[in-house]
Amino acid sequence: MSDVRTTVIELLGQLGSSREARQYLKQFSRVDQTRFAVVKVGGAVLRDHLDELASALAFLHQLGLVPIVLHGAGPQLDEAMSEAGIEVEKHNGLRVTTEAVMAVVRPVIYQANSALVDALEARGVRARGILHGVFKSHLADPEKLGLVGEIDEVELSPLSAAIRSGALPVLACLGESASGQMMNINADIAAQELVWAVQPHKVIFLTETGGLLDEGGRIISAINLSSDYETLMGADWVHSGMALKLEAIKTMLDSLPSETSVSITSAAKLTRELFTHTGAGTLIRRGEAIEWCASLPADRLARIERLVEQSFGRELRADWLADRDVSGWLVAESDRAAALIVNGVNGVPYLDKIVVTPEAQGEGLGAALWSALRARCPTMYWRSRTANPVNGWYFQQAQMSVRVDEWVVFGIGVADIDAFGPMVSDAKNREPGWVSAGEEGS
Ligand code: ARG
Repeated sequence: MSDVRTTVIELLGQLGSSREARQYLKQFSRVDQTRFAVVKVGGAVLRDHLDELASALAFLHQLGLVPIVLHGAGPQLDEAMSEAGIEVEKHNGLRVTTEAVMAVVRPVIYQANSALVDALEARGVRARGILHGVFKSHLADPEKLGLVGEIDEVELSPLSAAIRSGALPVLACLGESASGQMMNINADIAAQELVWAVQPHKVIFLTETGGLLDEGGRIISAINLSSDYETLMGADWVHSGMALKLEAIKTMLDSLPSETSVSITSAAKLTRELFTHTGAGTLIRRGEAIEWCASLPADRLARIERLVEQSFGRELRADWLADRDVSGWLVAESDRAAALIVNGVNGVPYLDKIVVTPEAQGEGLGAALWSALRARCPTMYWRSRTANPVNGWYFQQAQMSVRVDEWVVFGIGVADIDAFGPMVSDAKNREPGWVSAGEEGS
């Protein structure tokens, strides 16, 4: 236990916020030990970042979290094949595996597997290489593909036995038939089947890039499938490889409990991804709907009010809504993100309050709420204290902004500065709703 403590403290120091780290540690420890995570490691990561990989996995193991690691060995295989003078042949993305190819595949996969097991054990982590007995398969298309397997059944007992005995399972993408014929299995397909069988809390892809990239080559922090999927699939910059990946992840998440999320990150950033709200990589969730409600039932309103109070650190008056001309609320299903729209000058929507829990922010729910808001209110205005750290982001979103006293007033879709004038004076004089005549708040 004291070992674990030391490790935790080390982690907390690295990451800055001990509260966040503790919250995620608790969340990940709550699920059954065999269902914490499936981690799929690309062959290139295994080859080029073995140290970072082993230390990130060792760290989880020391915290009592045992991921199931599944690895490919694609680049290693390509290399070995060219050394052996065998041409790589693929069919629909599957490696055609003749007897001669299998003779190369087998030792390369064994080697990749034991490289990781050895690296873990060198760090004092018990690890178990699992090369057989999990993917029960039949030959997919012997004529065309040779010894490529199609999975019939995933046998989890070798994995849970390893975990129960305190060892971290390191699983290779090899299948076999009932009679013991060994088969080559595509790593993405193996990952999909494994995830389906394990139903883990987290699905983690460790890649060289460390996430999915947007138009400008930056890592997309979070994707909420329920609000972003259609838009992404329709975007001209989303190339076919990424579209396929997104589609596969969507299919995967659709069959898992709603709290399951996928993280695409790198070995070096895994710890930060797991133990902070903002993460480091791309988090993909099924996501939740953002609904428009003209009014809220009492219990829901009370929950949102509590969220507003927590996030502003102020108390709302019991009658704070009485003198507001409420147009409606945009609220996430889970009540962790909400925006209040009131009718402002000449009926133009005024964004009176917007709140998102830090955790939901990391999941991309803030961005989802904002796009719902933009779709609902092509024209709107709002205010924010000059010292509000969110202002940088507001300046990017707004087309107009004016600083008055302690406020910045922002506008979107406003025709011109003349039309904006009355909104600015309206915004700065609005009553914040807090208990004591407040200087704070918005
Ligand atoms: N630590 C949390 C998790 O692993 C949130 C991660 C957020 N990550 C991101 N790329 N936005 O589920």
